[in-house]
Amino acid sequence: MRRGAAGRSRGDRDGSVPLLVPGLAVHGERLMTLDELEAFGVAIGEAAVGALPVLVTLSGDLGAGKTTLTRAIGHGFGVVEPVTSPSYALVHEYTAVAARRFFHIDLFRIAGPHELANIGWEGLFSEAALVVVEWPEHAGGQLPHVALAITLAHPDDDETRRRVSW
Ligand SMILES: Nc1ncnc2c1ncn2[C@@H]1O[C@H](COP(=O)(O)OP(=O)(O)OP(=O)(O)O)[C@@H](O)[C@H]1O
Ligand SMILES: [Mg+2]
Repeated sequence: MRRGAAGRSRGDRDGSVPLLVPGLAVHGERLMTLDELEAFGVAIGEAAVGALPVLVTLSGDLGAGKTTLTRAIGHGFGVVEPVTSPSYALVHEYTAVAARRFFHIDLFRIAGPHELANIGWEGLFSEAALVVVEWPEHAGGQLPHVALAITLAHPDDDETRRRVSW
């Protein structure tokens, strides 16, 4: 299990949400059912409200649960429309309560980091917004400071759970 700089691993012990402070996020790892992953996402979205701007990256294979987690984060943040898997648009902004801004970015289909210039990439991160990025590896190192980097994986023996590490 990965440990935080101070050797702490809070999230797997008491179910609390990782800190949303760049560079200080406490690391942890947990196996989560779908319900647990959704509760985790809602808590992250709620915590982000008071910590903007926040950038969350979601790594993991196809079907690992990145969009499911994005949807839950959006729900906790106050998004009022359905969060879907982005199709053609690389960036999707969702309407949220109280003029909160929520961007969902799926970089699965970009041909390379050079395409990021066309989507107002840098502007996105200068706003007091919550930005969730799927497939951050495709940004070729062009992501600004990440508040929370989450990886989802399929355990070998259990299709109903995901190994979630951050
Ligand atoms: N414990 C779990 N956590 C998350 N998803 C789960 C879990 N158990 C089952 N699932 C199912 O796995 C699927 C995850 O799909 P999802 O679209 O969220 O993955 P994704 O990582 O976004 O995939 P892609 O890379 O194709 O966009 C959903 O159908 C969800 O219901
Ligand atoms: Mg997805």
